[in-house]
This record gives sequence, structure tokens and C-alpha cells, in this order.
Amino acid sequence: MTDPLRQQLLTVFTGRATRRYGLSAVNQLQHALQAAQQAERDGCTPATVLAALLHDVGHMIHELGEDPASRGIDDVHEELGADWLAKHFTPDVVEPVRLHVAAKRYLCATESDYFGKLSDDSVRSLNLQGGLMSANEVVAFRKLPYHAEAVRLRRYDEGAKDPHAKTADFDHFLRHVEACRLPS
Ligand SMILES: [Fe+2]
Ligand SMILES: [Fe+2]
Repeated sequence: MTDPLRQQLLTVFTGRATRRYGLSAVNQLQHALQAAQQAERDGCTPATVLAALLHDVGHMIHELGEDPASRGIDDVHEELGADWLAKHFTPDVVEPVRLHVAAKRYLCATESDYFGKLSDDSVRSLNLQGGLMSANEVVAFRKLPYHAEAVRLRRYDEGAKDPHAKTADFDHFLRHVEACRLPS
């Protein structure tokens, strides 16, 4: 029998993930797979690979219609997605997802060349998400558990917008579900 959680993830990602990823040429599913593949190639833990795969699930479960950022609306997908994942997964999957937007604001504030590497949709959403972190926010961010994993995830996120990249399929990465799920 198919595991209900894996089936649910598959349904969300194959049903809604053909939504375009913001302004880029890849769709949500390609974006998710490319992020997970980078994490796996980097030798990350199962939790970080899964966090990379699922980091934008919030974009797929909101009810705000297609591309709310184009209408000046922040879908707060990092919170929505993390709260959804928290019903099923351990904090080492959930919290990097919750912090992946904060990690972008952090990197823009702390690495002089990072802003220049952002894609157009990341720049657009950055403004809706509060812009660069202040010095106080940077200090507070560094104290958060999982902030380093969130920064790592954020780099995979930004590198996962290549329309020509080849990846393993969704099921390949779902094998990490067992290692990271909450006991039922
Ligand atoms: Fe995101
Ligand atoms: Fe993303």
C-alpha cells in the first residue's frame, strides 16, 4: 500500500507544481527537484535534502491564485509551508523552510555580491518580504537554531532556476521521508 504522506506530497507537487516559478522559466516541480539535487550532491543530511525539495510547498497550498507577487501580495509561503510540514516532519526539515526567506534577507545584508546574483523574481519578492535585514535582525537571525541550514537551503534555492537542468524524479528524493517523519 502506498504511504499516505508520500502520496499526499506527490499529489501536491504533481497537481500544483506546474505553476510557473515566479518570473523564471522553470515550473515549481523543476525548481523543487533542482534544489534537492544540489543538496544531495553537496552531501547534505536527509533532512536538508527534503527541506530543499519541499521549501516552496507554501506556494502550492495557498489560495491566492497564480503569482500573487505580481499583484503586490506576499503569500508568506515560508510560514504557510513550514506550518504544513510541521504536522508531518521533524524540526530539521521544518525550520530551514520557515527561515528560507529570512536567509535571503540575511545574505543580501551580509554578502556584498549576493543581491547581484538574485533572479528578477527574487528581487521583486524581496521588497514585499521586508528588504535587507537590519544589523539587529542579522544578530537575531544568527542566534536561531537551523539558521545555517536555512542559508545553505537559500543558496540551493537561488541555484534551482535552470531551464535546462536534468534531475532525478520526485520519488527519488521522497526516499528521505522515512528518516525525517514524526512518529505516528
Ligand atoms: Fe521560497
Ligand atoms: Fe524557491
